[in-house]
Amino acid sequence: MKRVRAIFLGAVIAVVAFGGIAHADGSGDPKAVKSEDGKYFAKDGDPTFNVAADGTVDWYTYSGYRRYHSECHVCHGPDGMGSTYAPALKDSLNNLSYGDFLNVVATGRKNVSSSQENVMPAFGENANVVCYLDDIYIYLRARANDAVGRVRPAKHEDKPEAYTKAETSCMGH
Ligand code: HEC
Repeated sequence: MKRVRAIFLGAVIAVVAFGGIAHADGSGDPKAVKSEDGKYFAKDGDPTFNVAADGTVDWYTYSGYRRYHSECHVCHGPDGMGSTYAPALKDSLNNLSYGDFLNVVATGRKNVSSSQENVMPAFGENANVVCYLDDIYIYLRARANDAVGRVRPAKHEDKPEAYTKAETSCMGH
């Protein structure tokens, strides 16, 4: 049994390592090329934002704006602008892949420097974050690409029905 487990672990590590290399230089072209149930996707399949000519944003960007400002802004500053404690996620999203983002938010990170010990908490058990990871990612991706300014999006698409369904079944909500 031990050997089987070792092989399995090896495979997991290989996948993680490969993914890391494939996404080493951050997220790709953010342009939305398709949508499913009100959620937009870029060419590489990662979720992304969509802003119409009249400024109407997709539901996820709007929802992500709200979730970010309830769970993340205390440390990362309003509108993803950063603080003396935590980095500007508006900039981070230019270098982090979607997978990197999910991984850091779920498992946290600790950067111990000589003068400071800044901690990114693990949110893997927090339904208010885990159930809205894509929303927050999409909002920050929009910020990173200057598609959304330092404002609450004034107009947004309606909440998709599929979204409500997923929300009510997420982590026993
Ligand atoms: C208690 C303060 C705190 C909160 C709340 C917090 N973070 Fe962080 N976060 C940090 C710190 C500090 C770092 C930098 C850690 C390091 O340098 O290793 C960080 C790093 C990150 C990174 C990596 C950035 C990079 O440039 O590599 C991401 C992504 C991130 N946080 C996302 C989030 C999201 C999304 C939320 C809200 C769900 C959130 N954080 C809430 C403190 C926080």
